Amino acid sequence: MLKGYFCRNNSETMESRGLIRVAIFASGNGSNAENIFHYFKESKHIQIAYIVSNKKEAFVLERAKKLGVPSLFMDNKEFRQGNRILEEMKSHSIDFIVLAGFLVLIPANLIEAYLDQIINIHPALLPKFGGKGMYGDFVHRAVSESGELKTGITVHFVNQAYDEGSIIFQKSVDIEARENPNKIAEKVHALEYEYFPAIIKQVILSK
Ligand code: GRF
Repeated sequence: MLKGYFCRNNSETMESRGLIRVAIFASGNGSNAENIFHYFKESKHIQIAYIVSNKKEAFVLERAKKLGVPSLFMDNKEFRQGNRILEEMKSHSIDFIVLAGFLVLIPANLIEAYLDQIINIHPALLPKFGGKGMYGDFVHRAVSESGELKTGITVHFVNQAYDEGSIIFQKSVDIEARENPNKIAEKVHALEYEYFPAIIKQVILSK
């Protein structure tokens, strides 16, 4: 079921496939996770079925409880090992994985099982300001210090290197030279809320 869920048979229609079950992985606040959940809550085709975090105290797990979405905490060591997270995905019949502020490298077995079925959002215009250690406020500070006049979001497929999978979508926004990183973060979050759920839908429905 995992590999090629979308490739069972070309004559399949969305209706005959049934619900496509999506897991969201997040390490922190989870505002994107919640926004994505609300976008799909009435969908007949796509369901946010599971929320996973590698941080026990992450606010995203509180959000999951509030939204009534099953959730899981898994520490970094167990996550990186790969077997249990793959088992969890299988036992929850997950078809597609969305990373929304998730800070651990995805293990190889999960990438193989979900080839082109894991996507990430990065809060800048890759390939600039990407790679290991470039996450959250570090990105916005680096953008500010660089004097760039544009930043934005990048949605990409996930492979085994941070932020290097093929790019699906980018959207830019104007910033002032050396604009306050908090202001930059606000602008980027606004883009994420506006575009990320629709891009997820487009990627899933194009499979
Ligand atoms: C987002 O800016 C996302 O692009 C980045 O981490 C942030 C997560 O924010 N990868 P939130 O947890 O969804 O509020």
